[in-house]
Amino acid sequence: EWDQGRAREIIAANGTLEGPVLPILHALLDEFGHIPEEAIALVASELNLSRAEIHGTVSFYHDFRRQPAGRHVLKLCRAEACQSMNGPRIARDLLQELGIDWGGTTSDGALTVEGVYCLGLCACAPSALYDGEPMGRVDRERLDTVAREARG
Ligand code: FES
Repeated sequence: EWDQGRAREIIAANGTLEGPVLPILHALLDEFGHIPEEAIALVASELNLSRAEIHGTVSFYHDFRRQPAGRHVLKLCRAEACQSMNGPRIARDLLQELGIDWGGTTSDGALTVEGVYCLGLCACAPSALYDGEPMGRVDRERLDTVAREARG
């Protein structure tokens, strides 16, 4: 849960670094699990930068989720090797079935699906991470199984 005081401490602890924005955002993500709007406003004001700059950084890096994640997180690789092995199609079908877009969470709060850009598992593309566990050669059936399990 968002805690302004705790966020200020994190910003202060990293604020003297050269190029403090990324380390601060990573530390805030570790602490709160997402980067809420309040965090963007606070980082901007503490570092004397514009909100637009912080927004730009947050949206450029795919790791900085803006909403709290669901109980389970499935990350699907969207980089080249996985693209060439039917990754986009499998992902599109899954997202459609779950009724969400990239970065979205199912309405029951069970599963968030995010894109990642190369998991270093190109040899067994298309690949994914489910709650931090690597999965290779994923196909529709395996993802359906994961989604079913996640949603109980
Ligand atoms: Fe998907 Fe490398 S491109 S794991």
